[in-house]
Amino acid sequence: MTKLSVICGKASEDLGKKLARKTKANLVKSDVRIFPDGESKITLKGTISKKKSIVVQSIYPPVDTNLVQALSLISKAKETSSEVIVVIPYMGYARQDKEFLPGEIVTMKVLAKLFKGAGASKLIAVDIHSLIGLRYFTIKSKNVSAVPDLAAYFKKLSLKNPLIVSPDQGGKERAREFAKEMGIEYIALQKKRDRKTGKVQIKTKKADVMGRDLILVDDMISTGGSIVNATKFLKKEKCKRVFVACTHALLMNNAEKKIRKSGVARIISANTIPGKTSIVDVSNTIAKAIV
Ligand code: R5P
Repeated sequence: MTKLSVICGKASEDLGKKLARKTKANLVKSDVRIFPDGESKITLKGTISKKKSIVVQSIYPPVDTNLVQALSLISKAKETSSEVIVVIPYMGYARQDKEFLPGEIVTMKVLAKLFKGAGASKLIAVDIHSLIGLRYFTIKSKNVSAVPDLAAYFKKLSLKNPLIVSPDQGGKERAREFAKEMGIEYIALQKKRDRKTGKVQIKTKKADVMGRDLILVDDMISTGGSIVNATKFLKKEKCKRVFVACTHALLMNNAEKKIRKSGVARIISANTIPGKTSIVDVSNTIAKAIV
């Protein structure tokens, strides 16, 4: 009898397969057909465990489609399995964790209800934008960090007097953890984002980075605005090379091109979102959080 099954959503096929191998689970794949009006028609291929299922589905663009697919997979899993754990490698909507401007809806509250309603008993996310979002969940929840995996990759590169840099104060703790893993120092810049236009400015005036290789560390890259502005500033301060390490490379609106143009040597991200920069595998880290 199958003790554990990993039900793989279309948005996380590769990571799901790796996770099934690491947890010695039975792999259940999903075939997805998108109807002309945008609806998803999912057909599962494989045997679902009566005991425990792990549903893996990232919520990157198309965000709402991938979210509904995640909920549908949970609901189907719950028809057979008594326990359903949901792994959301990239948690879309996590930036909507509080009411920043009057009248804004805190969508993370809605997601908390939806995951529970669909039948999940535990949620595992990787480097969720902020832990505030998880407070709304009444099922068990856990956030795991991709920083040790990313840092292990950078340890193997030969870098000149490397320094970890966070593009903003919000990422200070992540930068500290990254620097600790690599046994080097870190700094955090001051960033200001216009809440209405989303435009980013670096407010830091000086940084002691001359001649050093820098690793800009962030949880995610969306439009690339934070990384581009930080890189321009650091280049002005006469650093050597700028590398980018992030967990979730969304890379919207030509972000990769803009980042390269600003002078970044390489972008390295985790495989929470598939893509050509996503070369650091986090399946082991997720597997450890499941068992
Ligand atoms: C912000 O606080 C986050 O940690 C990221 O820095 C931000 O979401 C990245 O967005 P963008 O690439 O659009 O600047």
